[in-house]
Amino acid sequence: MSILTPHRTPAAAIRVDGWDFGDFPYGLEPLAMPPAGRAQAGTEHRPVTLPSCDPDRIARELRALTGSGPGAAALVDAAPASSYDQLFWFRWIVGHQVTFALWRLMGRVLEEVGERGPDAVPGPGAMARLECYAHGYSAMLLYSGSCPTALYQRLIRPAMFLQHRGFSGTWAPDFHQVRSLLRGRPLPWTDDPRAAGVVAALGAQRAVHDSVAARLVPGGRSLLQQSINEAPVKPSERTAVLYDNFFMTLRGPVPDEAVAAQLVRRLRAVGLDLAVNGLYPLGRDDDGEEAEVWNGSLARSERRVGVVLAEAAGFAADLARRAPAAV
Ligand code: HEM
Repeated sequence: MSILTPHRTPAAAIRVDGWDFGDFPYGLEPLAMPPAGRAQAGTEHRPVTLPSCDPDRIARELRALTGSGPGAAALVDAAPASSYDQLFWFRWIVGHQVTFALWRLMGRVLEEVGERGPDAVPGPGAMARLECYAHGYSAMLLYSGSCPTALYQRLIRPAMFLQHRGFSGTWAPDFHQVRSLLRGRPLPWTDDPRAAGVVAALGAQRAVHDSVAARLVPGGRSLLQQSINEAPVKPSERTAVLYDNFFMTLRGPVPDEAVAAQLVRRLRAVGLDLAVNGLYPLGRDDDGEEAEVWNGSLARSERRVGVVLAEAAGFAADLARRAPAAV
């Protein structure tokens, strides 16, 4: 089933040029991020050149790929993956990198609101961004976790286990700035009726995480939970480095504009992948306990993956336009 079925009507078609991420289709790139949580930047910093990108063109391409732009239609010119291992490894790593960037941009919105005072309510623009980025996180949970359970158990989980036998999402440095929000803790404005869309998106994100976890690891027990008695490990600077290293994340003095530009480039790669392969190229095996809860907001999150990516690229493009060439 293809979530992003590009229209192929030549009359209104926008040509979406081929793959331009990594050194080959479904190749990877390091992500440069500012210090966060327990992940600090070194004092010595070698500048990293960021691949150039035209954020407005990418936002237009993504609207065309998802059919959500005015009269949008797209002709896609992307190569298929050389193997499913390559495809789903790409999805696991890049889906996480996109998530880190979304968390940072959410953190930025929260900081801006906080600067207006402890009881400030986000304005309509800030609410729209938070809601969109929270849905974007749900989309990335689905995207990262779109592999068959057997492939996850054979390829992805053992790799994280080898990095650290207690490897955990709680170590994600960028999660630190949005932890309260994403856990659904009440903030001064979350009871406000104007926050209803954001609160719904946050609830959907938690439901999607738990469903993906239960599908890929029947019972949903994490490596951390499995290893807790044998080797209890508290989050530290070391776990932050182990986590960043696994997901190819560098830390340095990286402005949010550069985070947004890297996000937009990744969203383009994800959009091309989905247009060519669909969300579940090998089907979605969710027999067992979670099958019946895959309805309502979960199914909606799944249907809207493409549209959400295009919206997130549109918001991020506002910042990405001002990105420096190197960080
Ligand atoms: C698809 C990509 C995934 C992402 C981005 C992700 C992210 C996260 C994050 C950020 C946390 C911390 C939540 C908090 O502290 O409130 C977390 C915790 C957790 N995740 Fe995931 N997760 C993913 C997949 C999975 C999978 C496949 C499992 C299956 C076992 C899983 C199981 C858990 C569990 C049990 C926790 C609680 C803490 C722990 O035991 O490590 N997650 N995850």
